[in-house]
Amino acid sequence: MKLAISKHPLIQDKLAYLRDKKTPPREFRRLMKELSVLMAYEVLGNLKTQSVHVATPLKMASSLIAAQPVVFVAVLRAGLGMLEGLLEVVPEAKVGYIGLYRNEETLDPVRYYVRLPKDLDKSYVVLVDPMLATGGSAAEAVQILKSNGARQISLLCLIAARFGVRRISRSHPDVRIFTAGLDPTLNKKGYIVPGLGDAGDRLFDT
Ligand code: PRP
Ligand code: URA
Repeated sequence: MKLAISKHPLIQDKLAYLRDKKTPPREFRRLMKELSVLMAYEVLGNLKTQSVHVATPLKMASSLIAAQPVVFVAVLRAGLGMLEGLLEVVPEAKVGYIGLYRNEETLDPVRYYVRLPKDLDKSYVVLVDPMLATGGSAAEAVQILKSNGARQISLLCLIAARFGVRRISRSHPDVRIFTAGLDPTLNKKGYIVPGLGDAGDRLFDT
C-alpha cells in the first residue's frame, strides 16, 4: 500500500485544531492553507530533480533544481481550500479542477465539471482533496486524470478513512496517498469518524 501519514508535530497540531468543532470557518480556512504548505513538502518529496551548477558570490556550487512540471488538480469544492497554500510553495504549477459531489443516497460521485491543463503525461500530478472517505470521488478523479494522459499521480488529503485508502489501493495501486491523519471508520452517511465533519461546509460556511 502506497500510503504516507505525516507525523510532523506541526502538521498534527494544526490537524487537531482543524478537527475541532469549535474552530470557526475563518480559522478553518487558515489552518487548511497552512497544512497544505506543510503537506506540499511531503507530497513533492519524490519530484524529479536535475543537477546544475550555480555561481554563488564566492564559487560554483553543485545544486539540484526541480526538473518536472507540477500540476495541482483540486476536487471541488473542498480541494479549493488547499490550493492557495500549495501554490505559495510552487507558484509555477499548473492547476486543474474536477467538480464532483456525492449523491447523498448512493454516495456515488456525480461529475459536473472537468478542466485540466495540457501535457499531463509529462507532469507530476497531485490530486488535491482534504477528505478521502469511501474513496469514490478520488477513484473517479484519478480515472479522469488517467484518461487525460496523467501517468504519475499522487493523492494529497488531510484525513483519510481506512476504507477509502483500501479502495484506492485496489482500484489504482500506482497512486501514492499522502495524508495527515488516518481515521478508522465511516458512519452511515459516509462521513469519516471522527474526521472533521463536512469539509466544504466548514470551509465555505454553508
Ligand atoms: C467531499 C470531499 C470529497 C468527497 C469524499 O466532497 O471533499 O470530494 O466528499 O468522499 P468520498 O471519498 O466518499 O467520495 P462532497 O461530495 O461533500 O462535495 P462538496 O465538497 O462539493 O461539498
Ligand atoms: N466529505 C467530507 O467533507 N467529510 C467527510 O467526512 C466525508 C466526506
